[in-house]
Amino acid sequence: CGITGYIGGGESASVLSTGLKNLEYRGYDSAGIALVGDQVKVHKQEGTIDGLTIPNETEATHGIGHTRWSTHGEPTDENAHPHTDCRGDVAVVHNGIISNYTKLKEELAGHIFESETDTEVIPHLIEEEIARGADLRAAVTRVLDKLEGSFAVAATHVDYEGIVAARQDSPLVIGHGEDGMYLGSDVTAFVEYTRQVSYLEDGDVAHLSEDGITIFNDGERVEREIQTVDWDASAAGKAGHDHYMHKEIHEQPHALRQAISGRIDELSGKASLDIDLDDEFLKSIDEIQIVACGTSYHAGLYAKELIEPLVDITVRVDLASEYEVYDGYDARNTLVLAVTQSGETADTLSAIRRAKAPGMTTFAVTNTVGSTITREVDDSLFIKAGPEIGVAATKTFVSQVTALALFATYLGRVRGTLSAGDGADILENIRRLPNAVQSVLDSESQIKRLAKQYVDSDAFFFIGRGLAQPVALESALKLKEISYAHAEGFAAGELKHGPLALVTENTPVLAFLNESASPGETFNNVKEVESRGAPVIGLTTESNSGSFCKHSIDVPNLGRLGPLVSNVALQLFAYHVANEMGRPIDKPRNLAKSVTVE
Ligand code: G6P
Repeated sequence: CGITGYIGGGESASVLSTGLKNLEYRGYDSAGIALVGDQVKVHKQEGTIDGLTIPNETEATHGIGHTRWSTHGEPTDENAHPHTDCRGDVAVVHNGIISNYTKLKEELAGHIFESETDTEVIPHLIEEEIARGADLRAAVTRVLDKLEGSFAVAATHVDYEGIVAARQDSPLVIGHGEDGMYLGSDVTAFVEYTRQVSYLEDGDVAHLSEDGITIFNDGERVEREIQTVDWDASAAGKAGHDHYMHKEIHEQPHALRQAISGRIDELSGKASLDIDLDDEFLKSIDEIQIVACGTSYHAGLYAKELIEPLVDITVRVDLASEYEVYDGYDARNTLVLAVTQSGETADTLSAIRRAKAPGMTTFAVTNTVGSTITREVDDSLFIKAGPEIGVAATKTFVSQVTALALFATYLGRVRGTLSAGDGADILENIRRLPNAVQSVLDSESQIKRLAKQYVDSDAFFFIGRGLAQPVALESALKLKEISYAHAEGFAAGELKHGPLALVTENTPVLAFLNESASPGETFNNVKEVESRGAPVIGLTTESNSGSFCKHSIDVPNLGRLGPLVSNVALQLFAYHVANEMGRPIDKPRNLAKSVTVE
């Protein structure tokens, strides 16, 4: 979900609706705002922000807004935020989950609830405190003591000149503008108005007024440092592309240059990474545990394939939601590495907290400076991909794998398992990545033709080995997310152990034949599916181009990074299949960019 808020001399309604538009990628089941002037006026409904009529209430001095991705209660007008108290004086928007809301609801006997949400207990609890004489800030502070779970909350009251915002495990950012103060669940909410931001921390209760902000934590006044973010509004626009996803696919050469800039020292074969993890510690570890979700999980699987052969270390990759630490685990020699573009995924945060309990050292590879994970782990490596708006991750995947390849090289050199020469070879391939990706983007018309030709297929299968296996999973995920077609990725050798039963002449098979991914063995699997009539699209390099696959998409041979380059071709394939089908590519049904619930 996304939160926005504004108080100041500008037009509140228009600032809030811009904020909601910007935040739509965080959820778009329903949207709403509360504008506060002589009274609190709430406008909210199921559906996208485009469907929400927001009158320009010039007398409103401030307000809050919300775009929702349903957790408790279906997407309906009633369940949309903001939620109000019985009198309609208090309005509240909320991200996260109040885990004890059923109990709290029982304690609020006599209050009338209109929604099925957990959120609605908050305005009613605030109402009770205000009836006891508290002002809004005091009321919110007392209510927070009663709430269990993770949340970010913003509240207004008709008689209170300001917005009260509070954070517990769910992000909130304050924007310090010239004409007022802004609030957002992330910077995107207000990036066109101000780039001076401060991040609230857990337990903070902030009072935003036209002139500034005061923050309290545990009853004490606290200050949060003001930082300048370097994302500008234009970086978040579509820049002439039909979809953000298409723009972000095409931004990859630039994103990659940012990810590797200043980090490659080919002469010494070393990656120079701006990280604080101690070299002595990195020498001492004997296991890396990677935790991640969705596309980032696939980046983690790719990282395992990169790290293990270069570094004498075991790498375990877990879906964050499945990660467990057993009692008595000796935590000293383990590094837990979270891969998360947003830095806010609840499953990943929760896995990191489980790892920290017995004292494991934690490290994040992320795109989002100031995100919750960066404040919880021991150290972070930033992928520097810039904002990604399309729900389907593209440039962040490629940048994550690249950052992890740099990390693998770094680790290999620190631990002495990678020679300067081999390190230099890998770094040379990383340096060539942006141009290699560009050459794939230049062949978009061929990929688009293939997408058109096969758009009506019954299903799509992606097969690959070794380094290409995670990419097969990722390519299938991309296609299913945005086209809703049946798409699956398999380890090529596993086809014959079951999935082959699904293969027909109407199920194209996309096979990774990159030189670093055992193409010889995968050719055998290509034969197996071709003999069942399936059309095969081979992701080839010059050396095996035009082999016996029905179609070939040639990508440069980039050693261990070859499959990553092939992935870009299949991002375009997924995009054009979905576009042919007329799908809402940037906002696929039922999915959200950043999932802040477990
Ligand atoms: C959501 C998104 C996925 C993303 C996953 C992990 O499910 O829809 O595209 O891969 O979260 O996100 P993260 O921000 O942790 O990389």
